[in-house]
Amino acid sequence: TRVLVLNGPNLGRLGVREPEVYGSATLADLTSAVDAWASELGLAAETRQTDDESEIVGWLHEAVDSRAHVVLNPAAFTHYSYALRDAAAQVTTSGLLLVEVHLSNPAAREEFRHTSVVAAVSTGTVAGFGLDSYRLALAALAGRLQNNT
Ligand code: DQA
Repeated sequence: TRVLVLNGPNLGRLGVREPEVYGSATLADLTSAVDAWASELGLAAETRQTDDESEIVGWLHEAVDSRAHVVLNPAAFTHYSYALRDAAAQVTTSGLLLVEVHLSNPAAREEFRHTSVVAAVSTGTVAGFGLDSYRLALAALAGRLQNNT
């Protein structure tokens, strides 16, 4: 089972960027952790990152067309991108799973982070556990897939 693990703007700066908020792990560390967790769960994960809204929208279209489930950290796009929301909606309405993830807990941060325009079209959300948010998201996805077969 293929899972696209998609990361939005500034997540390529992990490890350097506000380590007190996002931790010291880099995107490369995240990618190798995701690969290991996914294979334990019998999933084939592909981790990508972009700062470009049109690119991440295109990846969501690709998920729909290639029937891949999605773990999505929309980063700042979470809070205002209706284009991303509409693309995410295509994933879940086509019967695929999409788990919204965040390293930090946006609800405990600035007011503008309290809104997610993606949450309502996601299967579910995991936030606040650092890299472990991704492990929990993959486990939730694998669990849901198992219960449905
Ligand atoms: C984030 C939270 C967002 O508010 C922020 O813009 C990010 C990262 C997280 O993983 O905690 O870039 O999505």
